[in-house]
Amino acid sequence: MRISWDGLHADIEACQRCGLCAGIHHKVPGQGDPKARLMLIGEGPGADEDLSGFAFVGKAGQLLTKMLAAIDLSRDQVFICNVVKCRPPQNRVPTPEEAEACLPYLRAQVGLVRPKVVILLGATAVRYTLGENVRVTRDRGRFFEKGGVWFMPTYHPAALLRDESKKRAAWQDLKAVRDKLKELEGEA
Ligand code: URA
Repeated sequence: MRISWDGLHADIEACQRCGLCAGIHHKVPGQGDPKARLMLIGEGPGADEDLSGFAFVGKAGQLLTKMLAAIDLSRDQVFICNVVKCRPPQNRVPTPEEAEACLPYLRAQVGLVRPKVVILLGATAVRYTLGENVRVTRDRGRFFEKGGVWFMPTYHPAALLRDESKKRAAWQDLKAVRDKLKELEGEA
């Protein structure tokens, strides 16, 4: 795979590595600051994202925007993407085959952005970055260091919309991310 943004986007656009691209309107590669210190990874595009071609623009995305604003970050200052770049039908969880097929793109994105901190939004993002042994409900709120990058598992914003009682924990996780970014501020 080529590793420039243009090459990566061309590869994603042309990709037919799994069947998900058959029924979509747009690929959703992700967007934001290509040199962001903070990256956020979700599961996969929903209906609004599929129609627009941009990640996290629906209800969950709007909540995410507010959550970022609460730690003084705009969406332009972070990079937001998903494990899979095509919408799974009926918003089902991507199969392991679909996720594995798409993972080279996510890895390339992490390699290009080189974030200091990555927020993993929900179980799918956690599973395909940190592995099967890490669980959102049990392990959210603490950092996992991998290859010099700090990963924070937390609830997916859609889960917060379904269950308001999770919001307090998610807010704690965000504050920990804010503090970690501060702590790492001086680093190149
Ligand atoms: N949910 C996700 O995981 N990603 C999006 O882009 C939108 C909703």
